[in-house]
Amino acid sequence: MTSTSEELFDFIAAPLKVFVGKGDNVSELSKLGKRELGFTFSFPVKQISFSSGLLIKWTKGFAIEDTVGRDVSQCLQHALSRRDLDIQVTALINDTVGTLALGHYHDEDTLVAVIIGTGTNACYLEKADAIIKSQGLLTTSRDMVVNVEWGNFWSSHLPRTSYDIDLDAESPNPNDLGFEKMISGMYLGDIVRRVILRMSQELDVFGPDSSKLHVPFILRTPLMAAMHEDESPDLREVSRVLKDILEIPDVPLNIRKLIIKVCDIVTCRTARLAAAGIVGILKKIGRDGSCGVAGGKARPKVGSQIKMKRTVVAIEGGLYTKYTLFREYLNEAMAQILGEDVAPYVIIKVTEDGSGIGAALLAASRSASSVVDAVL
Ligand code: GLC
Repeated sequence: MTSTSEELFDFIAAPLKVFVGKGDNVSELSKLGKRELGFTFSFPVKQISFSSGLLIKWTKGFAIEDTVGRDVSQCLQHALSRRDLDIQVTALINDTVGTLALGHYHDEDTLVAVIIGTGTNACYLEKADAIIKSQGLLTTSRDMVVNVEWGNFWSSHLPRTSYDIDLDAESPNPNDLGFEKMISGMYLGDIVRRVILRMSQELDVFGPDSSKLHVPFILRTPLMAAMHEDESPDLREVSRVLKDILEIPDVPLNIRKLIIKVCDIVTCRTARLAAAGIVGILKKIGRDGSCGVAGGKARPKVGSQIKMKRTVVAIEGGLYTKYTLFREYLNEAMAQILGEDVAPYVIIKVTEDGSGIGAALLAASRSASSVVDAVL
């Protein structure tokens, strides 16, 4: 995450060489020709063609300065050549786009894809003529996929707590990726750690000050989820995490319950913000039950009938797939925001490994031989 570009892409190419070397995963057809590869690169890229794009900036804690501004497909291509791999990168996509591709492949009503994992982002299918940037470009498609990079979204209407403000200020990229810092798995555990730290400083409930509580990112989100979902009567998991990770032993039961409440509040807020983002996109494409098409005007008057279309939102990422309470909060918030008339038309579908398989599908769809073996 913090080395050189060459090292990073060699690190990716190495297991690929092992994979290809096994041979048994290679179809007969592809043995005849050059192999083609769809490359999922889950960072903001200025896409310059179907198979190439320049890294705009790193997110999610990566900091490899010499990659910024470079064509990441070419970087991978060079790493493949260094290992004598005769493979051509034929598609470069964001993970949201892969998820949309796989979702759409299975169900044509899939118009939106969302990732809520270490980072968070969404993409959606837009009418090509609604995209000012694309005007004048040669395209025969009526639709185009927009990678929103919503982790970067910010609005002065978003209420931030002192914990969000401190987390942002102490991060390597202050004033950047505000939405992602409130939503994604990379940061949630650290928000909870900050709350516990403040509790320990202001209330005499945790005994002597634990130096571990001051360590950024020591409380990782899966540990926070494990505490939140602890159903044992004596909250054993909460005790374990407090003792083993934060070095706070012997916390009374009522305080352990309080910790669960903190996890609950942080997760609920995250899920509701993510749901608001998804509905924002549905509104933009006229699928939130608003009268207007793009731009989403006011809701129809009570009693008036508008014809709703089924819309599928493909979703991927550990926070949604592995964290049951988070998933429940998100689904509940979607239903509340959309209302009972519209919510049944919006289906959230988990698209397992959509980002990888979608890249293969897209590479295959562009491939002369229609054979793609390798997916990253
Ligand atoms: C970060 C990246 C974005 C990616 C998301 C989910 O926000 O900038 O490109 O889609 O994480 O992995």
